[in-house]
Amino acid sequence: MRGRPRLAAEGGAMIESEALKNEWHVVYRSKDLADGDVRLVRLLGQDLVLWRHAGRAAAWLDLCIHRGARLSLGRVTNGELVCPYHGWRYDLDGKCTLIPAQPKTPIPARARAETYHCQEKNGFIWVCLGEPAHDVPVHPEWENDDFLKVFTGPYTFQASAPRAVENVIDVSHFPFVHDSMLGQAGDPDEIENYDVEQSNEGLRAGPIVVSQPAGDHRRIPVRSTYRFWIPRPFMPYLMKSFDAERCFSHFMPVTPVENDVTLMWVLTSANFDKEGGEARITKRNADVFGEDIPIVNSQRPAMIPEALRQELHVRADKLSVVYRRWLTDLGVPGAK
Ligand code: FES
Ligand SMILES: [Fe+2]
Repeated sequence: MRGRPRLAAEGGAMIESEALKNEWHVVYRSKDLADGDVRLVRLLGQDLVLWRHAGRAAAWLDLCIHRGARLSLGRVTNGELVCPYHGWRYDLDGKCTLIPAQPKTPIPARARAETYHCQEKNGFIWVCLGEPAHDVPVHPEWENDDFLKVFTGPYTFQASAPRAVENVIDVSHFPFVHDSMLGQAGDPDEIENYDVEQSNEGLRAGPIVVSQPAGDHRRIPVRSTYRFWIPRPFMPYLMKSFDAERCFSHFMPVTPVENDVTLMWVLTSANFDKEGGEARITKRNADVFGEDIPIVNSQRPAMIPEALRQELHVRADKLSVVYRRWLTDLGVPGAK
């Protein structure tokens, strides 16, 4: 940012950490941003203007260098973003091309928007506020036409991103938070020991087998075998299989909006029961996350404690424990 003004949230170390600035984060769904659209989005405590022209999306600090007006209140004209205050025009690269009050005078070199890395992949628009250290991973089912793909969310958590991630990589809450759907409170499964592997592709864990009264959009009793993959710290993915053929996955990138405000975007893929599946998956996901969110929002502290000893871990929590150590290694701050 080199001395330029920032629209930063107050306090809190996590959203200001270099580790998270150098990650890709989802800010929007690709199909919801049409050519000519201008949107205000928020990431890591910063307001961003997101806009599109000729198929290309751009994400900038939501601030005009002239007098600090919000560019997200502007509009797109002839492929350029026009500031709502004095009409300065910016091209897709962030360069000012016109100052209407003095059109014949050379435009100062500093007349630029503060631009960020922006790319589209797996149906999402991703932004990196720093220098991306890793690419967005390839989604296992994205190119596979055998799978129905359904986008739901984003679901808003009044909780930190790591708390939201831990929720979706934790199977021992299923019988209690999702009684009669993903487990049974009166007859919870014992969680057998499972493997957790860490590599340069992130964390992989499983298999974990549980009984579920209504484990997918068919809402029939199933034995589900879970496998988890967390390629980057805020990109949990789970695959559950029911037999040799039927698979159901969730890719759930979470966006740290503030230290304690998080969006979870969900891309569900299923290679069975596809007819009418979109509406049933949408309803199912709303039910599941509707049960998760109040519990996750209730967790204190909102940030995961940095010291493992501040909470109590049992064998079933193995993946969370490895995840917490990974966050620490990556330099993602938690609660002291
Ligand atoms: S504040 Fe943007 S043109 Fe003046
Ligand atoms: Fe849950």
